[in-house]
Amino acid sequence: MGLSLAVALGVGACGDGGGGGLTVVREDRPDLPLAGLTEAERARFDVGDALFDREFRPSQGLGPVYIRAACSRCHVDDGRGPGAVERAIRVSGDGFTPLDDQGPFRAGPVLRPQFVAPATRGVTAPWSVPAEGVLRSARIGPAVFGRGWFEAVPDAVIEAGARAQAEGGVLRGRVNRDATGRVGRFGLKARVATLEDFAADAFRNDMGLTSRWQPTEVPNDDGLDDDARPGLDLDDDTVRETAFYVAALAIPRRTGLSAEGAMRFAEAGCAGCHTPSLATGPAAPFAGMANTVAPLYSDLLVHDMGVGLADGTREGLAGPRDWRTAPLMGLRFFRTFLHDGRARSVEEAIVMHRQEGSEANASVAAFEALSAEARAQLLGFVSRL
Ligand code: HEC
Ligand code: HEC
Repeated sequence: MGLSLAVALGVGACGDGGGGGLTVVREDRPDLPLAGLTEAERARFDVGDALFDREFRPSQGLGPVYIRAACSRCHVDDGRGPGAVERAIRVSGDGFTPLDDQGPFRAGPVLRPQFVAPATRGVTAPWSVPAEGVLRSARIGPAVFGRGWFEAVPDAVIEAGARAQAEGGVLRGRVNRDATGRVGRFGLKARVATLEDFAADAFRNDMGLTSRWQPTEVPNDDGLDDDARPGLDLDDDTVRETAFYVAALAIPRRTGLSAEGAMRFAEAGCAGCHTPSLATGPAAPFAGMANTVAPLYSDLLVHDMGVGLADGTREGLAGPRDWRTAPLMGLRFFRTFLHDGRARSVEEAIVMHRQEGSEANASVAAFEALSAEARAQLLGFVSRL
């Protein structure tokens, strides 16, 4: 169905003696809807698109403290960043285990530097606390395209992946669950089960907008439990249509993938965690996603990535060193890689999988043992995913 998305941008110059004819340039963008949406779905997509870009105002319930005023500030064009969520957390001597006593971090580890009246200050790191023993970390807003597919994968498929890994080898991927026991898929530690829950979570935690799903304002140092808009800030439709929009974003088109590259990817053990595809079930958000395979390049499990990547945060069953296998899609749209953007290239991201205690250490060694040509094939493959 690519044709409906293709746009003829240029027409080959006529009479140039070079054969002329049409030059069709296909759009390569990270923010395209799934092909084959019905007219009604396309209309909902457009409503959600506008909500995703909307700069919320204090009169609409922004705050009292918040990080950014629009989804797109942290997921520009549905890709990565530039906005991020920063944390400061007191940890023990090992550098990553959170302390029970968080001392002066009364409003929690997440920093929310922006504020609106009646708040008088944002939540920032208390500078009175010595930096020693405090782990600062950042999560750049990850890409949100292709996420509808995550919901199409049944819990049982994700659970079976964890069981298979538990039976042998170096991989020990684990399922994360939300508070009600459903298998988590969303968030960098897979703490949330559905996009609707995630949208409500993001509205509250990143923007200070409450809803039926998340009815309480975020903790703040003024002790306020409401903002300029009394009661719930958002109606149900705002949350639902925003989630629908995210669910309907396509995986950016993959072209030029080489068989050699795929082989190297498997040889180096990448595919153990970055599972090329997972089976989908009958209950999918869109008909075209049902009973097929979701090409996610992720097992949707959390893995121990070692001390160096730890952020000291526990979320559900995920520990301070655990991260969900990053789905590999649309990487050509990113300038930085890994949860905090510390890697500047795909190759750097791979090498940084090597950390004390990381499940991926053997895979990095296998990558480095490849010939220069084989490494280039692997990198070319991953960059086109
Ligand atoms: C301040 C920056 C920021 C804002 C604003 C923000 N996000 Fe995010 N978003 C993030 C970060 C950081 C994560 C990773 C969160 C985690 O690990 O729990 C994330 C994760 C997500 C995910 C899960 C992606 C995945 O791979 O699992 C979705 C979906 C999402 N955001 C949607 C939204 C929506 C919808 C809004 C607006 C209502 C929004 N975000 C506003 C920073 C932001
Ligand atoms: C043990 C499981 C595991 C193995 C093996 C593994 N990865 Fe990863 N990979 C992860 C996790 C978890 C992340 C996210 C880490 C983070 O954000 O700090 C990740 C992140 C990445 C990223 C960054 C993606 C982004 O959006 O920033 C790339 C690229 C990547 N892996 C490629 C590879 C390649 C290539 C291999 C094989 C050489 C490989 N990985 C092996 C688990 C694994």
